[in-house]
Amino acid sequence: MQRDGNMIKDLIVKNRSCRRFHQALTVDRQALRELIELARLSPSAANLQPLKFMLSCEPETNALIFSHLVWAGYLKDWTGPAEGERPSAYIIILGDTQIAKSFGCDHGIAAQSILLGATERGWAGCIIGTIEREKLRKALNIPSRCEILLVLALGKPAETVVLETVGADGDIQYWRDEDGVHHVPKRVLDDIIID
Ligand SMILES: Cc1cc2nc3c(=O)[nH]c(=O)nc-3n(C[C@H](O)[C@H](O)[C@H](O)COP(=O)(O)O)c2cc1C
Repeated sequence: MQRDGNMIKDLIVKNRSCRRFHQALTVDRQALRELIELARLSPSAANLQPLKFMLSCEPETNALIFSHLVWAGYLKDWTGPAEGERPSAYIIILGDTQIAKSFGCDHGIAAQSILLGATERGWAGCIIGTIEREKLRKALNIPSRCEILLVLALGKPAETVVLETVGADGDIQYWRDEDGVHHVPKRVLDDIIID
């Protein structure tokens, strides 16, 4: 079948994890709500829809959230974005245990929907799974019935990210070059398809 355009592929390629932002360029609450609308419309196991979302686009809550996140584990000499390059907004994805006991991959799907929407708007983001969960819960008074699943960092991108191919050595670790460009190796198609 003849296909015109690569809209989805282009968006997926553009949607790279970004960890440095133009912090001063703010993101408003209404825009965050529009991104969560994309998660609302996404698939959910047994259609239980157990995810809940907390938004932050104010400097005070942003700072609280930032202090409980772990950035780019493979970049050993970088502890995360400096003041001025931090995310302008966050979406915290929670799992409501009164609706489901486990959340399968619902939060991964929701995260990708939100990030694709953000990318379409010219923003960028990063999924953060390494979180000081109990400290974050206390800081934001997150109800005990909600599990903290993921934090999405969002903002206007201030770094360049390029895709590479995993080499013969099989090394999948991302790296940053002397110009600050972030490189992300991806396995080649034939290596991920099992015939
Ligand atoms: C479930 C999940 C958890 C992640 N947790 C973190 C994290 O805690 N800190 C971080 O800097 N990046 C985190 N990432 C981003 C990955 O490092 C990133 O997706 C990977 O390096 C590939 O880069 P790409 O997203 O541009 O393809 C996470 C990604 C996923 C999917």
